[in-house]
Amino acid sequence: MRTLNAAIIGCGAIHICHVEALLHTPGAALRAIVDTQVEKGQTLAMAYGCHFYHDYREMLRDDAIDVVHICTPHYQHKAMILDALTAGKAVFCEKPVGMNSLEVAEIAQAVAATAGRLGVCYQNRYNPTSQAIREVLQSNALGKMLSVKAVLTWSRSGNYYSNSPWRGRFATEGGSLLINQAIHTLDLMQWFAGGVMRVKGVVDSGPLADTIENEDSAMATLAMYNGARGLFWASNNHTADSPLLLEIHCEKGLLQLRDNILWQITADTPVKLANDNPPTDNGKNYWGAGHQKAIAHFYQAVQNGDNNDYVDIQQAAKSLHLVEAIYRSSQLRQWINIPR
Ligand SMILES: NC(=O)c1ccc[n+]([C@@H]2O[C@H](COP(=O)([O-])OP(=O)(O)OC[C@H]3O[C@@H](n4cnc5c(N)ncnc54)[C@H](O)[C@@H]3O)[C@@H](O)[C@H]2O)c1
Repeated sequence: MRTLNAAIIGCGAIHICHVEALLHTPGAALRAIVDTQVEKGQTLAMAYGCHFYHDYREMLRDDAIDVVHICTPHYQHKAMILDALTAGKAVFCEKPVGMNSLEVAEIAQAVAATAGRLGVCYQNRYNPTSQAIREVLQSNALGKMLSVKAVLTWSRSGNYYSNSPWRGRFATEGGSLLINQAIHTLDLMQWFAGGVMRVKGVVDSGPLADTIENEDSAMATLAMYNGARGLFWASNNHTADSPLLLEIHCEKGLLQLRDNILWQITADTPVKLANDNPPTDNGKNYWGAGHQKAIAHFYQAVQNGDNNDYVDIQQAAKSLHLVEAIYRSSQLRQWINIPR
């Protein structure tokens, strides 16, 4: 197996999950990091024993680099993906893949035109509990899905936004709670149900209204393509990062995710199906711990050249379309249809 050399663009909060994941991914090696903050980048490169670039375009000229990880602010994703694909690199990008559907369409076109590979980081799909939910639903053991409910309550302080001023600004983050934090939850809801047909939702800001331009809380009702209903509620105004609470009501019972443990509840005694504790990589518990698995799947696909067992641009577009539809619904106060 040929070793694939990686470069990470953006060495902020999330990049360490990629560094750790690469250490444990067979056939992967960290060759370079890139950051516009030169001193920080140089210090980290010394610690990791890799090259440092302050300009990602210069890094793209390094023929030895095979895979580029994008861990930068949202507004930079599209240009970096396009440049990296044009340079012939495989790309693994943090969520959201772009800022809106126009950007997603441009990115999809570039993937097709370059016949390139683009994976997007929705690591929570790889949590043992998420995998177990998919298995139960696909086996039809509990019958038809009737409803899926998700409650996400996290805490984001003023410092979180002032430390990285691209956050909380529409032009650089593209939204806030929905596009940054809750997009993982929306992705799981749509993935479990096989897509959202239409949505009616509201976004608002409360305690963070003076700090950010966008929403710090949101609620939505979803109508799924499989006929089920979705109920979604999220806020960044809690004082702790509580684990996601998710419940799927099916004809013959409930699947309930609480405290990172998945329970199957039927007429019999509740059965513990899966457990996401403790995290298996350096991810914060509330981020989920699937970075390593998500990255390993992507590298395997690049190595083998023959499978698409990762979240590609078409998959990644779904949660972004849903986020965008909730923003529109909130503005127009009406249901918004989402094409399949
Ligand atoms: N998957 C997850 O659970 C998860 C969790 C947190 C963040 N994220 C995502 O990761 C991405 C980064 O978020 P973060 O919280 O780490 O941001 P951050 O602000 O902590 O870090 C961003 C880094 O990118 C660098 N940077 C900015 N412009 C650059 C450029 N042109 N070239 C090179 N470096 C540049 C900054 O100097 C900074 O070090 C976002 O897309 C975010 O949504 C994902």
